[in-house]
Amino acid sequence: MEKYVIRGGNRLTGEIKVSGAKNAAVAILPATILAQGVFTIDNVPQISDIFVLIDILKTFGAKCEWIGDSTLRIDTTQVENRELPSSLSQRLRASYYFIGSLLGRFNYAKVATPGGCQFGAKRPIDMHIQGFEALGAKIPPADEVAKDDIVIAKADRLLGAHIYYEKVSVGATINCMLAAVRAKGVTYIENAAREPHVVDLANFLNKMGAKVKGAGTQTIEIEGCQDLHSVAEYSIIPDQIEAGTYMVAAAATRGDLTITNVTPEHLRSIIKSLRDCGAKVEVYEDSVRVYTQSELRPCTVCTQPHPGFPTDMQSQFAVLLCTCKGDSTIIENVWEDRFKYIRQLTRMQAQITQPVQSIAIIHGGSALKGAHVIADDLRAGAAMIIAGLCAEGETIVGEIQHVERGYENIVQKLRACNADISKQEFPDCAAAE
Ligand code: UD1
Repeated sequence: MEKYVIRGGNRLTGEIKVSGAKNAAVAILPATILAQGVFTIDNVPQISDIFVLIDILKTFGAKCEWIGDSTLRIDTTQVENRELPSSLSQRLRASYYFIGSLLGRFNYAKVATPGGCQFGAKRPIDMHIQGFEALGAKIPPADEVAKDDIVIAKADRLLGAHIYYEKVSVGATINCMLAAVRAKGVTYIENAAREPHVVDLANFLNKMGAKVKGAGTQTIEIEGCQDLHSVAEYSIIPDQIEAGTYMVAAAATRGDLTITNVTPEHLRSIIKSLRDCGAKVEVYEDSVRVYTQSELRPCTVCTQPHPGFPTDMQSQFAVLLCTCKGDSTIIENVWEDRFKYIRQLTRMQAQITQPVQSIAIIHGGSALKGAHVIADDLRAGAAMIIAGLCAEGETIVGEIQHVERGYENIVQKLRACNADISKQEFPDCAAAE
């Protein structure tokens, strides 16, 4: 069993290049089955979530081949509609995007319910189903879906519709876009998610010949269109959360990092929170430099859908706040249970209290101490790494498969910036819990 071994205390210095956005790639790869042809997609991160999606695409008959470190060629000419079994769909959350894309292409989808990080009693897909049903798909009632752990969606023909979402959901917005692009007529998604990956998917779909307008605003308009085609060249946007993770790591270690291949406008809320703490952030065209000059101070962070502070950054930011003397507050507004990592940080002597499930108070300023911890989920794992980099002594992080789902070459990238981190093999019963 592999774990990360980190010796803390080094300031991160130098330059880190950010990879392509996981959450954009996991929507764009399923979109390829909406048309027949050969796609060439660049800036695709080599992470385990992408490897699973490639396996899924192959199950449907697509040919997938890496033709460069980050360039993937996908040939969907022979794609057929098949059932997506739980052995594959359980391996990542985004497998549910195949419900939208299969429905859009074949008017029929049979997909086992998805896996992924758990941030609550369950991660519902009721809003996805609301969108499909509005487009005219028939889906068995929720109790049957739960019983069989399979979603079957079918339609004679999808028809454009007005869809209003009561909450902002990235997944429901994306899934509905995937289904609606080939529907007959115009679809409006109101109260749509505005995340950069929603916009990236819209740009990709438009390159396929779709007519999607308004992505990045609260209303997305999709004029259905049957004649979609493959895309000879597309580059996925840089990963906003990977960039933010390294920015926060720079501040937490009181280092000086330049993070390249970023889209600064996607990072505004993260930059603001870093500046609220007193970190220095210089913004360039496609890079940012983060460093510290004076003592950092506590602050309040409140997660919100984009353009607010991303929930996927709050655990990493919590570690930074552990290093800032005084009381900071984190308010989690997106997921009901996203503070599981506190238990791990407490093992490292972090002082954190949780007056209610959605709020954490971080009593920062006392030194973190190396310990055996685990990555509860993808971003919590990134937080454990940052904590290990800041801590006195040695930290061993287990369950690193969560981290490898979403961070390309994290060990190599950090080592090149002065971090003492390595991946080591441990016997199954040793270390952590
Ligand atoms: C995506 C991201 C995830 C991120 C999240 C919020 C991917 C693959 N994952 O997840 O990293 O943390 O956005 O930015 O892109 N909800 C419902 N019913 C639904 C769908 C969602 O009630 O049918 C609720 C969820 O429980 C949650 C909120 O809506 O409280 C937001 O979830 P959503 O934006 O859908 O998250 P994901 O798309 O699953």
